[in-house]
Amino acid sequence: MNNVFVKTKNVKAFVALAKRLETAKCNAPKMGLIFGEPGLGKSNAVLWWSLNQDAILITAKNGMSRKWLLSDIVRELGEAPFWTTEDLFNQAVSKIVENPRMIIVDEVDYLTKNSQAIETIRDLHDKTGVPVLLVGMGCVDKKLSKYKHLFDRIVEIYRFTPFDMDDVKEIVTSLCEVKIADETVKTLQKKSNRFRQLVKNITTFENLAHTNGCKSITNEELGW
Ligand SMILES: Nc1ncnc2c1ncn2[C@@H]1O[C@H](COP(=O)(O)OP(=O)(O)OP(=O)(O)O)[C@@H](O)[C@H]1O
Ligand SMILES: [Mg+2]
Repeated sequence: MNNVFVKTKNVKAFVALAKRLETAKCNAPKMGLIFGEPGLGKSNAVLWWSLNQDAILITAKNGMSRKWLLSDIVRELGEAPFWTTEDLFNQAVSKIVENPRMIIVDEVDYLTKNSQAIETIRDLHDKTGVPVLLVGMGCVDKKLSKYKHLFDRIVEIYRFTPFDMDDVKEIVTSLCEVKIADETVKTLQKKSNRFRQLVKNITTFENLAHTNGCKSITNEELGW
């Protein structure tokens, strides 16, 4: 499989949203939320953005406390974490203010039951003035809406959507090392319109082409 980052419609919408957050006026709230069903490419999109735009990317974990979150942020900023939560918070704020960059929190669903961790993200946003982008699963907008003060600061929301034919065609053409017949791309879009599923199918196509010694894949070969 080719190692290519595909700019799907979701990726383009996310980039536009991230740019709006970055250019928002300095005293305006700058929180954004992207969310959607599994395997649509959310994490990959924010990883690509953080590498290219030098954003601070944190992935929340199951059971993550406020202290654990702050320690991960401080480590991501290249520092050894201080011991107390108060010192950690001040350490994070001073490093971010020194070199202001967007903070991205992936898998934010894990923090929605922990008001201390969630409100710490709001505090970091308010204290540093940097944009904050939250990334979560299907219903995370509802889970976050109970934190009224945080939700009030979310000025940009985008839901990642399953891929249409144009996206599937572009993904298959960019990633698959063997040629896929147009009819197969159409069937594929009906069967699987999420990245993770498409990646699995593309692996199957490539293995089949390799085993059969052919350079292209059709519905007939797949028994579809
Ligand atoms: N833009 C992209 N270009 C190429 N491959 C991608 C892209 N986005 C995602 N993928 C592939 O699809 C897989 C699933 O994507 P990703 O993990 O980003 O989905 P997700 O929406 O974060 O899923 P989850 O909600 O389960 O966390 C990735 O491991 C990668 O192989
Ligand atoms: Mg993810």
